[in-house]
Amino acid sequence: MLGTIRSLSRSLWRSARSFQTSSCTQSDSLFVHRDSQENNPDVPFEFSEANKKRAEAIMAIYPEGHKRAAVIPLLDLAQRQHGWLPISAMHKVADILDMPRMRVYEVATFYTMFMRNPTGKYHVQVCTTTPCWLRGSDDIMCCIKNKLNINVGETSEDGLFTLSEVECLGACVNAPMVQINDDYYEDLTVKDTAEILDDLKAGKKPKAGPRSGRYAAEPAGKLTSLSGEPPGPGFGVRSDL
Ligand code: FES
Repeated sequence: MLGTIRSLSRSLWRSARSFQTSSCTQSDSLFVHRDSQENNPDVPFEFSEANKKRAEAIMAIYPEGHKRAAVIPLLDLAQRQHGWLPISAMHKVADILDMPRMRVYEVATFYTMFMRNPTGKYHVQVCTTTPCWLRGSDDIMCCIKNKLNINVGETSEDGLFTLSEVECLGACVNAPMVQINDDYYEDLTVKDTAEILDDLKAGKKPKAGPRSGRYAAEPAGKLTSLSGEPPGPGFGVRSDL
């Protein structure tokens, strides 16, 4: 009897498990590290003298006992120096901040801004979250893939461009947009996107920001609110109060 109950509960557990399998991970890069010739713990990494001073200045911002909070800016500094973030740079940051390497890996694998493998000169990050998607990010992505002849997560043959698909970059009101290195290109059309890539290929620096003629994130047409004179104090207050 006990055996029957046990095998029944086992088969119920198995069928429940089959409903609970998670969907396959859709990511540009592996979350795990694989040693390669250019990216393994034996490849030395050291901050330059200038960056050592910057690292000191960054750590000085945080109070005693909370220096580990500097992990993101230090990883960013390492990536800016090296062009991407090798595992030996993560180890260096862990040593400097006296924190377990695993904690640094956790941060570096969580944020799409950290590139843990060799990257092209231009890191093209296309936002495909809902507002950008509704405004045509699929077309922008398609244009980039076709022009560079690469897929998401790949680097172009000339080593210039690496393409990533990312979640909201906080410029939804200027959707669709892409981030290329530190610059945001916004209010994009397919034509704009192609022009930006052509300019970068030609060694030019395309102007960042909205391409629609807007200065920033103001209404695309005329003002739709706050368009009259401010009514002044007491506006809307009951006269008998
Ligand atoms: S949805 Fe694309 S920037 Fe927010």
